[in-house]
Amino acid sequence: MAYISQHTIAMPAPVRIGLIGSGWMGAFHAESIARRVPGAELAAIADPNIESAQNIALELGTAKVTASVDDVLADPEVDAIIIASPARFHAALIAQAAAAGKHVFCEKPAGQSLAELDAAFAAVDEAGVLFQIGFNRRYADDFRAAKKDLAAGIAGTPRLMRSLTRDPGTGSIPNAARVPAWTIFLETLIHDFDTLNWFNEGAEPVEVFAVADALVEPSLREQGFLDTAVVTIRYSNGALAVAEANFSALYGYDVRGEVFGSKGMVQAGRATETAARRYTAEGLSADTPRLNVELFRQAYTDELADFAGAVRARRGDVSPPSSDFTLTPGAADARRALAMALACIESVKRGAPVAVSEKAGV
Ligand SMILES: NC(=O)c1ccc[n+]([C@@H]2O[C@H](COP(=O)([O-])OP(=O)(O)OC[C@H]3O[C@@H](n4cnc5c(N)ncnc54)[C@H](O)[C@@H]3O)[C@@H](O)[C@H]2O)c1
Repeated sequence: MAYISQHTIAMPAPVRIGLIGSGWMGAFHAESIARRVPGAELAAIADPNIESAQNIALELGTAKVTASVDDVLADPEVDAIIIASPARFHAALIAQAAAAGKHVFCEKPAGQSLAELDAAFAAVDEAGVLFQIGFNRRYADDFRAAKKDLAAGIAGTPRLMRSLTRDPGTGSIPNAARVPAWTIFLETLIHDFDTLNWFNEGAEPVEVFAVADALVEPSLREQGFLDTAVVTIRYSNGALAVAEANFSALYGYDVRGEVFGSKGMVQAGRATETAARRYTAEGLSADTPRLNVELFRQAYTDELADFAGAVRARRGDVSPPSSDFTLTPGAADARRALAMALACIESVKRGAPVAVSEKAGV
C-alpha cells in the first residue's frame, strides 16, 4: 500500500543521561530512564564497583560502562548526570559535573555540610546548568494532590503539621553497624523536612528540637547508631510541626504527611499497596507496600521525567510544563532541608532546641 503523504518529522534527540553510582537507588533510576521516562536515554554508567554497573548495562542495553566518573563527565555525548553514589561524595560530584557542563539530578542529601553544598551550588550557578534534588515525595500522587489543595488555601493558615517515615524492617537492622552516623537526619528525615517546608511554602523553619535513640538496635547505641527520632519544628509563620522516623516497621514502608490549619486539614500517605481489601472471619486486611521502590515507583519515575523535561525545555525541544503550585525541588530546597538536619544533629548533641539559622548561616 502506498503512503497517502509522507512527512519527515525531525524528532528531538533524547536527553542522554550518565548515571554515577549503580547501587540500590541508582539501579532503579537506571531502569526508570531506560524504560519509563520518555525522551531520555541511559547513555553511560560509572561505578567503582564495575560489576554492579555491568550487570545493569547488560540488562538495560547501555553501551558505556566505566569505573571512572571522569570518563562519563568528559563524554560529550552525555547531557545530564544522575548522582546516586553514597552521600559523602555528592557535593564534590555536583561541582565536578557542573564544571563539565552537565545538568545534575542528585539523590539527597546534596551534601553533608553547608560549606560543601554552597561550593557545589556556586559551581552549578557558574556553569548555568540545571540542578534538581531527589525529594521524590513531592511527585507521589497523594502528596502532589495535598500540595495542590494547600496552594489553593484549603487548609487555611497552617498551625500543626506532621510528616513521618517508617522504613520497612524485620525488627533488626542487619547492616546497622555500617550505617553512617546521623543517617536518620541526613538521609531519612531530610525527606520529611522537605515535605514540611514545601507544604508550608513561604515560611522558614526557625528552630528544631530533636530527640533520637537506638530502640531497634540498642546494642549499637554506644557507638552512636540511631534508628528512631522525633523532631519538633517551629516555623516563621507560627506553625508547629513534628517529624518522626523509625528504621523498622514490620508492616512495610509507611510515609505520611499532614497539615492542620485554620480552615481544615489535608493529609497524604498511602497506607495500602492497592485499594483491595480482604474481609474474612479474622476481620479486615490489606497488603502494604514493602519497599521504597514499590511505594514510590511512580514518584521516582515522575521526578526523573520532570528532570528530563527541564533539560529538553532548556534545549527548546518542549515547552516548560505549567503548574498551579511549585513542584521541582532545587538548590534552595536542598539547602533548607540540610540546614534542618544539621540543626537536629546539634540539638541531639546538646539536648536542647537549636536555631536553624545557627546552622544555615543566615
Ligand atoms: N530518594 C530515596 O527514597 C532514596 C532511597 C534510597 C537511597 N537514596 C539515596 O541514594 C544514594 C545511594 O544510596 P543507595 O541505597 O543506592 O546506596 P548503595 O550503597 O546501594 O549504592 C551506592 C553505589 O555507589 C557506588 N559508589 C561508591 N562510591 C562511588 C563514587 N565515588 N562514585 C560513584 N559511585 C560510587 C557504590 O559502588 C554503589 O554501587 C544515597 O544518597 C541515599 O540517601 C534515596
